[in-house]
Amino acid sequence: MSLENKVAIVTGAAGGIGLAIARRFVADGARVVIADVDEAKGEAAEAELRETGEATYIHCDVSEKLDVRNLVAGTLDAYGDIDILVNNAGIVVGADFLDLEEADFDRVLSINLKGAFLCSQAVARHLVERVKQGGPAGSIINMSSVNAVLAIANQVPYSVSKGGMNQLTKVGALSLAPYGIRVNAIGPGSIMTELLASVNSDPAAKAKILSRTPMGRIGEPHEIAGIAAFLASDDASYITGQTIYADGGRMPLNYTVPVPEED
Ligand SMILES: NC(=O)c1ccc[n+]([C@@H]2O[C@H](COP(=O)([O-])OP(=O)(O)OC[C@H]3O[C@@H](n4cnc5c(N)ncnc54)[C@H](O)[C@@H]3O)[C@@H](O)[C@H]2O)c1
Repeated sequence: MSLENKVAIVTGAAGGIGLAIARRFVADGARVVIADVDEAKGEAAEAELRETGEATYIHCDVSEKLDVRNLVAGTLDAYGDIDILVNNAGIVVGADFLDLEEADFDRVLSINLKGAFLCSQAVARHLVERVKQGGPAGSIINMSSVNAVLAIANQVPYSVSKGGMNQLTKVGALSLAPYGIRVNAIGPGSIMTELLASVNSDPAAKAKILSRTPMGRIGEPHEIAGIAAFLASDDASYITGQTIYADGGRMPLNYTVPVPEED
């Protein structure tokens, strides 16, 4: 159990990739705080995880500083410590570059990027104090995307937010390295969450994705959770400032791969 007795906060863990990470962390022995705006799904996730381990749902909008402060205080109340933060909460707003509303640009950036900064700063302050008192360091993991480097024309704020996430990872890593605190990121390609569920029933949309996926399949949330578990563990003790891409081979691919026709 590589995360035995560790305390982890996972934002956006009421569903999708975040819930897969929370499940994996609990399986690896961690006590997990599910931080999410979706009360119903957050409580359902808490109930599920409590069947096999320790988990607590705390309502938190990561873009609100007060919520983030309460998240850290609530985690310390519940488990007495924090070792791991996963900044996973994220949203998409698709719109043509020429039509995108300022409010939508701000909303995506404030959740995907500013939210990750607020959570990182609040947790890092706790971790640094702990290190100064002779305690262990801890680790922060940011959920980036292949869209940090590649781009989609009608995903303007999303692509910008993920590009920023890679730089947040690097500046965080440099700032916190003197304390031994590691900051890394994961850059998924297309992963089968609710976000992509509609693609399964739309062969043309699926073929489009697969034509850019050399491994010929869409990824599963648990395949991202495995990377988070590795980065959070002592096996990654000398890795900081990196983004690990899990994209079925998309980033090395120029142009497209052939896609077999569906029956
Ligand atoms: N699914 C993919 O293909 C894919 C690919 C690359 C990167 N990602 C990234 O992975 C992360 C998770 O994506 P997902 O596919 O699981 O999405 P999802 O929509 O299934 O889950 C996102 C979760 O974040 C929560 N959330 C939204 N706004 C929030 C806020 N302000 N504060 C706290 N929680 C909030 C939602 O309630 C939800 O539970 C995101 O950062 C996303 O950009 C996903």
